[in-house]
Amino acid sequence: MLKLIQADDKKISPEPVQLPEQINKFPSTRFMGSKEKLIEHIWGVASQFNFDSVLDLFSGSGVVSYMFKAQNKQVLSNDYMAFSADITKAMVENNNVTISNKDLKIILNENTPTDNFVSETFKELYFYDDDNAFIDMVRANLKYLEDETKKSLILSALVRACLKKRPRGIFTYTGHRYDDGRKDLRLSLKEQFLVAVEAVNKAVFDNGKNNFSFHGDAMTLDQQADLVYMDPPYYSPLSDNEYVRRYHFVEGLVRNWEGVEMQWHTKTKKFKSYPTPFKTEKGAYEAFDNLFKRHQNSILLVSYSSNSLPNKEDMVDLMKKYKNIVEVISVNHKYSFGNQGHKVGNNKNKVEEYLFVGY
Ligand SMILES: C[S@@+](CC[C@H](N)C(=O)[O-])C[C@H]1O[C@@H](n2cnc3c(N)ncnc32)[C@H](O)[C@@H]1O
Repeated sequence: MLKLIQADDKKISPEPVQLPEQINKFPSTRFMGSKEKLIEHIWGVASQFNFDSVLDLFSGSGVVSYMFKAQNKQVLSNDYMAFSADITKAMVENNNVTISNKDLKIILNENTPTDNFVSETFKELYFYDDDNAFIDMVRANLKYLEDETKKSLILSALVRACLKKRPRGIFTYTGHRYDDGRKDLRLSLKEQFLVAVEAVNKAVFDNGKNNFSFHGDAMTLDQQADLVYMDPPYYSPLSDNEYVRRYHFVEGLVRNWEGVEMQWHTKTKKFKSYPTPFKTEKGAYEAFDNLFKRHQNSILLVSYSSNSLPNKEDMVDLMKKYKNIVEVISVNHKYSFGNQGHKVGNNKNKVEEYLFVGY
């Protein structure tokens, strides 16, 4: 049933395919490992198959899920980080809810008492006092919005504002040492937030499908689709692939720091990372084996990079255990910042990005 569209042509064409205008409305962020620059290639490969539904198991920034939504597929997105799941809830699952001026008035009410959690916990760490107070105000007013989708839109906008106002978009260091005076950094958090609300609102569209956003562990998520896209953290002995360490502030914001193990002694006031098998080579190998087995009845599409382990040959062998045909499409891709390899000199410019496809 799940066959290549060109009947007698077994080879996948590696050519990227131009995407519809809608994709430009996605308010992308500098998310570590984002495939924003590869979505034309991902669609180029995927479009050679007949399929109606897609499961994006490690959705991250949400850009790949959004691309599939724009191609009118039914999209099931998943990530174990709350802030990633929040983004896909707001812009992939959601087909028609937007933030109105009335909602904004509720969110910007300065008279609501706040718990000052951000102002006190993160004082002088990431943002100036006014910006921290603004974040606390939005947090306090969120409970007055009854619609869960609206909450996800507001939080997506707030996260986006925080990432934009933070040099390099990460929370691994404190202070303002990378502040180069760019406009993004000069705008107040409130100004950033208002721009972000508009961007997020504009990104909402209806593709006529019931799309879903899940916030769970990819290893146990009980969902299926015609095509399963996997883009887990790349394991490399040369650099860490720790998402919570980089994004703990916005992750905490979305989950209101509930259910996390705060590491109060740390300078960054981060919390304990979530366990994932992709932290070791053996763990990653076993995890891929489990995932390929679990989704063996679907078309498998995996993003992976040449400097990660397991290596290309092992990945092909693993996939061949479950799929008749496995192909590797190689895409040259230069990482733009702090990804795998950033600590290993000029290696970073030589990374090749692979797409493994099994069918
Ligand atoms: C390479 S990123 C995905 C990037 C995404 N494709 C994009 O284009 O933005 C890997 C993602 O896997 C998530 N992740 C890591 N371990 C996970 C697990 N066990 N279950 C679900 N998500 C996981 C991380 O939170 C991160 O968002």
